[in-house]
Amino acid sequence: MSLDINRILRETFIVEVEQHETITSTNDRAAERAKQGAKNLPMLVIAESQTAGRGRGANRWWTGAGSLAFSLLLAPSDRDTEKTSLISLAAGLSVAEAVKPLLPNQAVGIHWPNDVIVGERKLAGILVEVLPQRHVIIGIGINTNNSLADAPHELRETATTIMELTGNRCDHTALMVALLGNMQRHLVTLLRSPEELAAAANEMCLQRGKLLTIISGGQTDTGLCQGISSDGALLLKTNAGVRSFYSGIAAISKKQ
Ligand code: BTN
Repeated sequence: MSLDINRILRETFIVEVEQHETITSTNDRAAERAKQGAKNLPMLVIAESQTAGRGRGANRWWTGAGSLAFSLLLAPSDRDTEKTSLISLAAGLSVAEAVKPLLPNQAVGIHWPNDVIVGERKLAGILVEVLPQRHVIIGIGINTNNSLADAPHELRETATTIMELTGNRCDHTALMVALLGNMQRHLVTLLRSPEELAAAANEMCLQRGKLLTIISGGQTDTGLCQGISSDGALLLKTNAGVRSFYSGIAAISKKQ
């Protein structure tokens, strides 16, 4: 794996790195380490390939050869589970800001609650899980040096990779150092001033002004996206007025 672990340990807030060639899921391994009482936190579990990479809900995550897949295990905290969407936004912002300099003149942003988008295609996904013992796991998959030619058919129209967009391979160590620096900063902001974090996420939200359909709590709603509110909710102007959504799967509606 072409990753300079010493540099990551030296230049970021990460205290331990566990590296795997192949693993089922870095999120599952991070949960296992938490259960075993991992002491050196924040720790990073990183893998070249995942045999059972997980996405949100029942989704799977394609870990294409050359992509980045890792999980950050954070110490148990008093961040309540309602803040999971704010942690997702902090992670999404951290990734978006880290990849932006690599993609000049491209529309890099986030889709609430947990996708990093370039144009209309998905570059990265985030899976935040809070364990019963209150450890927080932030799982991130970024399509970096992988090729869409290797992707499952259903992803070829919706996903993108840094390699596809630029024709260049990106330096994984430099990207991780930038991303983890952003993450540390945004997690501090989240504790100190969640509104500030939500405002930064709102700035980068590419769904604003689009007609969205959201499935949340078994219900489907459609409305014009008004961005992200100061408490991290997705705001939709529906027939019943402006509504806030704190969780759910949102998709851009075809009928614009
Ligand atoms: C999504 O877009 O639905 C979230 C995808 C999250 C994928 C990452 S890859 C590293 C970590 N390990 C997993 O099993 N999933 C996350």
